[in-house]
Amino acid sequence: MAEAHAVGIGLVGCGMIGQIHADGLAKLVDDGSVRAVAAADPSPGARDAVNRNCEFERLDGDPDAVIDDPEVEAVFITAPTAAHRDLVLRTLATGKPVFCEKPLAPTFAAVGEICDAVAASGVVAQVGFHSRFHPLVRRLRALVESGELGAPMGYAVRDDQYWPTGGVVAGHSSWRSDRTQAGGGALLEHSIHAADIVSWLFGPAVDVYASMRNVFGYDVEDAAALTITHANGVVGNLVTIFNGVRGREERRFEVFFEYGTIELTTNFIVGADEDSMLVQVADQPAQRVDCASEREVCFVQLGVERRDFLFYQYVSDRAFVTAVRDRAAAAPGFGDALVAHALVDAAYRSATTGMPASVAVQPVDAS
Ligand SMILES: NC(=O)c1ccc[n+]([C@@H]2O[C@H](COP(=O)([O-])OP(=O)(O)OC[C@H]3O[C@@H](n4cnc5c(N)ncnc54)[C@H](O)[C@@H]3O)[C@@H](O)[C@H]2O)c1
Repeated sequence: MAEAHAVGIGLVGCGMIGQIHADGLAKLVDDGSVRAVAAADPSPGARDAVNRNCEFERLDGDPDAVIDDPEVEAVFITAPTAAHRDLVLRTLATGKPVFCEKPLAPTFAAVGEICDAVAASGVVAQVGFHSRFHPLVRRLRALVESGELGAPMGYAVRDDQYWPTGGVVAGHSSWRSDRTQAGGGALLEHSIHAADIVSWLFGPAVDVYASMRNVFGYDVEDAAALTITHANGVVGNLVTIFNGVRGREERRFEVFFEYGTIELTTNFIVGADEDSMLVQVADQPAQRVDCASEREVCFVQLGVERRDFLFYQYVSDRAFVTAVRDRAAAAPGFGDALVAHALVDAAYRSATTGMPASVAVQPVDAS
């Protein structure tokens, strides 16, 4: 049988998440499905750090050199959020498939521009919502889809994370606490993942009411509380926090169905101690899901053969590379990201006016 083609990958952005993707890409090189062709970052130290996780054939300070490299067949964009628009459009101009980290851009108008351009290009394209590859999140979605607990009624989601900026975590980059670069704080930067998951579970949101604070004094929010109504009638709350409690990197869901309730805690590392799932139906003790078995079932379903990875980025990147190789649609795509961004954008509008805001499917000028 002919050997499967190893897809030539270019990585643009060699910081924290670029290094995590590089770890996954090294395993994909080992799997024979990727060739690590080129990586770019203006910082030599960041380039070296990426190269320690995955040895690229070429390193460059200039993103264009990687995007234009004739041996690069698909581009991963892992630079800071404010750089995504130009890098995605630049990649689309070459006709190459593109993977872009979340959030797509600091403003909803730029998100709309990016999503329109990706849709018009028809290239294979994926967004870095790696939580969709978490086995317990996928189990929750299967429970929603099957209807076995009845219709979903409402939910509460709590996200919290240590403030990921240099002023709070020594050595961390600081663009996240600058509104012009990040576009928003805990809600946009972190809980765009939660906005995506609740939209994936319950369909698009239609109305949002939100309150926000900036306790640490940056010009982006570090505490936000949202009340969300979905088009199918499901109602929910999302509370998101960036604070100073080092060591907590969790997301907690409570989902209430007509005939069952779910409590779900996830973390972003495979096999995290915090992972847990309880399912309760009438007159029965709560059933604790065996996380290890669930993970195994999930990875087998996804066709993932190796188990020596710590980050779900390996599973997500593998899905993208497989889609590129098969010229198939990749998921989660930019249309999914637009839905999540629309929810977040409505929350920012609501927090500004103090009134509930409608979720606009099409981007609106927030000015
Ligand atoms: N999916 C996730 O869970 C997840 C997690 C962390 C970060 N992210 C996202 O990934 C992106 C990067 O975050 P990070 O934590 O790696 O940031 P970071 O500050 O650690 O690293 C960013 C790197 O990009 C480089 N860079 C700056 N401009 C560039 C350009 N135009 N081209 C190429 N490189 C450039 C910087 O020198 C730096 O090395 C952000 O959008 C962030 O929100 C996603």
